[in-house]
Amino acid sequence: MATFTDVYADKAGVLDDTSKARSNIYESRLRLLHKALVTAPDGGAADPGKIVSIGVGSGIFETLLDQRYGIRVAQSVEPSAALGARARAKGLDVVEATAQGFDYGAAPYDTIVYNGSSFGFIPDDEIVETFSRNKAALARGGRIVLTDVPAESALGIALRFIQEGSVPGRVAEEALAGTAFFNVSEHSYKPYWHEIGWYVDVLRKAGFTQFGFWQTIPENPPYHNERIEDPTPGYKSGNYVAIVAS
Ligand SMILES: C[S@@+](CC[C@H](N)C(=O)[O-])C[C@H]1O[C@@H](n2cnc3c(N)ncnc32)[C@H](O)[C@@H]1O
Repeated sequence: MATFTDVYADKAGVLDDTSKARSNIYESRLRLLHKALVTAPDGGAADPGKIVSIGVGSGIFETLLDQRYGIRVAQSVEPSAALGARARAKGLDVVEATAQGFDYGAAPYDTIVYNGSSFGFIPDDEIVETFSRNKAALARGGRIVLTDVPAESALGIALRFIQEGSVPGRVAEEALAGTAFFNVSEHSYKPYWHEIGWYVDVLRKAGFTQFGFWQTIPENPPYHNERIEDPTPGYKSGNYVAIVAS
């Protein structure tokens, strides 16, 4: 396995706990992910087909995709043993590996998905090669789906300031109270933050040429959990964004 530090080792329950405490945000995120999985970069309908989910975490979204939409993820990949065990307990087929180290020998896949910013844990100097291997593992017309809290979003900016330690704890708690990161001390943030345009450049370098974007939860952070939202096209006003590329 590539060098990997499991930041979830002693807090494997945080994702499941947060999904219950911020159920509207998670429902909006599920709708965003579903839209990205069934939509081509040009906005037309697409069949997600054979899916691999990388950085599956505890398998929250993959379980709901099956229950709600009948979309079954063929293969899940998760480097954290603690999170992978939770996903396995929900019935998912989980390989313990990083995105960089996973053996794509069962390719071709129709969709490779990184949900919840799992690609934001891949070092910058390894990401083009990782996405290039993903491109090679996709069937003709296959798609990669990345869902993210963009660095440039209100939530992204707040998380980055807090992560840098430049915000007093009380201010951080107030700023994040309405978000999925309300449990400030329990969460682990991705170490690598970039604007959406940076990822488009990286994906181009990896061989992807067609791009589509969906976004959800445009409100300011205190109001993220107030209601369930359906995704809209674009990426410039969502606190959660999906990139679909082929
Ligand atoms: C914020 S969690 C998202 C989990 C899940 N996809 C979700 O949306 O609930 C990020 C996930 O990426 C995983 N991860 C960390 N480094 C990774 C890597 N190099 N390759 C693949 N996944 C990684 C973490 O273990 C964690 O499960």
